[in-house]
Amino acid sequence: MLYKRTHMCGDLRLADEGKNVVLNGWVSKARSLGGLVFVDIRDKTGITQITFNEDAPAEVLEKARSLSREYCIGVKGVVKERSSKNPNIPTGDIEVFADDLTIYSTSETPPIYIKDDDNVNDDLRLKYRYLDLRKQKMQRNLTFRHKVMKCTRDYFDEQGFTEVETPVLIKPTPEGARDYIVPSRVHNGFFYALPQSPQMFKQLLMVGGTDRYVQIAKCFRDEDLRADRQPEFTQIDLEMSFAGVDDVIEVQEGFLKRVMKEVKGIDIETPFPRLSYDEAMERYGSDKPDTRFDIELVKLNDLFEGCGFELFTKTLADGGDIRGICVPGGAAEFSRKKIDKLVSEVKHYGAKGLVTIKYEDDQISSSISKFFSEEEMQAVMDRFGAKSGDIVFIVSDTPKVTYDSLGFLRRRIAGILGLLDDNKYNFLWVVDFPMFEEDEEGNLKAMHHPFTQPKLEELYKLDSDILGLKANAYDIVLNGVELGGGSVRIHDKDLQARMFKVLGLTEEECQVKFGFLIEAFKYGAPPHAGLAYGLDRLVMLLLGEKSIREVIAFPKNQNAECPVCEAPAPAGEGQLEELGIELIEE
Ligand code: AMO
Repeated sequence: MLYKRTHMCGDLRLADEGKNVVLNGWVSKARSLGGLVFVDIRDKTGITQITFNEDAPAEVLEKARSLSREYCIGVKGVVKERSSKNPNIPTGDIEVFADDLTIYSTSETPPIYIKDDDNVNDDLRLKYRYLDLRKQKMQRNLTFRHKVMKCTRDYFDEQGFTEVETPVLIKPTPEGARDYIVPSRVHNGFFYALPQSPQMFKQLLMVGGTDRYVQIAKCFRDEDLRADRQPEFTQIDLEMSFAGVDDVIEVQEGFLKRVMKEVKGIDIETPFPRLSYDEAMERYGSDKPDTRFDIELVKLNDLFEGCGFELFTKTLADGGDIRGICVPGGAAEFSRKKIDKLVSEVKHYGAKGLVTIKYEDDQISSSISKFFSEEEMQAVMDRFGAKSGDIVFIVSDTPKVTYDSLGFLRRRIAGILGLLDDNKYNFLWVVDFPMFEEDEEGNLKAMHHPFTQPKLEELYKLDSDILGLKANAYDIVLNGVELGGGSVRIHDKDLQARMFKVLGLTEEECQVKFGFLIEAFKYGAPPHAGLAYGLDRLVMLLLGEKSIREVIAFPKNQNAECPVCEAPAPAGEGQLEELGIELIEE
């Protein structure tokens, strides 16, 4: 028999005293004490204590004694004030004295505890995700995500955006990762790709007159997984016609202000700071700087020119850089052992070591003091404005290694010193990205994607200083995480053809890959610009979670598998044959 519930388990308060209520949920805890049975009943809103005593019919009391963890039940009873209150839960002032009980289904002993701070290993959590999702924290996360999505749709609707779904079986999109491909049965030997983003279709929507497009879109990228990366993730994807950088930024700042107010209750200040890519790298060693704390990179090349320390002079002769950061009050914190640990960590970013200078009791001490006069060491400390008690970390290497390793180190150290305040939300824009970068083999590739508009006034650099050419591209960054990115697009077919050529694509390759977009641009393409947020990342950051897996109902594990349904799996008998595919055993 199905009970029609009157309340949710987390909602009852003292004001409900005397009410007859019906609750449906799961047994979180059941204890029999003589003639009494205490049961905590849980649903997505919380827990209420149910008491079965001798006033309940005998068969109800008997049934209550059989209850065990995760049985799914319905209870009828009366709300009463609790004699021993539980200040740890919102319903702690009351209990429900039950007069009827139905057991919808029993449960085997669950393989994981349904407890927020249970330290069970992640594989088990993901395998039994449907049990993991019963946790209050997971339910809060799913509801919060829903609210962010609702707020997104409301805001963009009010701003004149139309949500349009774009296809999922497509030709590859050039977002830089590997594609997931799907074989075609009808066209043996041909494949669809799953979209890495709706990039080309949203541009076609602009040609089609949609003017302002938004979509909460599933994207698929076969790339190495990290805490903020999943093979299957969700973007809030946007495109606007007749818009430039400032127009996009203005609408997005309005959006983020609205989300922060509506789902977090926090007023944030707009406009957000804008940093050029060059400035972000120079000051923070990163194109997604965390500005919640004040440690910045300082270039020291001029102080070490012609010095007697070979490591430094060689770096400078090779065209490298010497940069450092100063950690105020860090001299006492960073012992030899702790510094050695940091050295092993920066090695992942290519640094061969860290030079440290401590300033303690007005004395400067360093492993490299013997190569420098006191005045020279003092000049270094003066460059940082260092005071007694401070420590300086220096990296001497290629410019990229100095940025990457010190960019990592400043945030790592801030973490150690407790400077990463979860209640601070430092949004900022990084703008003026380089148009191109070189990959590991020295090949030119678009830093954002090949539809990004270069700065038109700098087009002459295509022939003279191609890596110096900047693009009308921007990223939105929150607390050191890239939340989203976008650009003004090329809408001139000749310029687009020129960019493809620079990227080494032959006309034939362009036709095969992007022929439909090039064709569309022949018919009056409007100027347009757009951006995409990682929805999972946005929700993760607003909830203070460390991984996007905590905000996705059924995420993939580290091996890109779905532990619940055990995908990927071998294709069924006959399926491969139908597809014209033969597996080669290795
Ligand atoms: P981009 O590739 O920068 O741009 O992606 C936009 C945002 O999507 C999120 N993101 C991811 N989130 C989780 N897992 C992943 N594997 C993953 N990859 C990306 C990030 C990122 O900032 N079409 C362009 C946007 C545009 O130009 O309009 C694009 O996809 O938060």
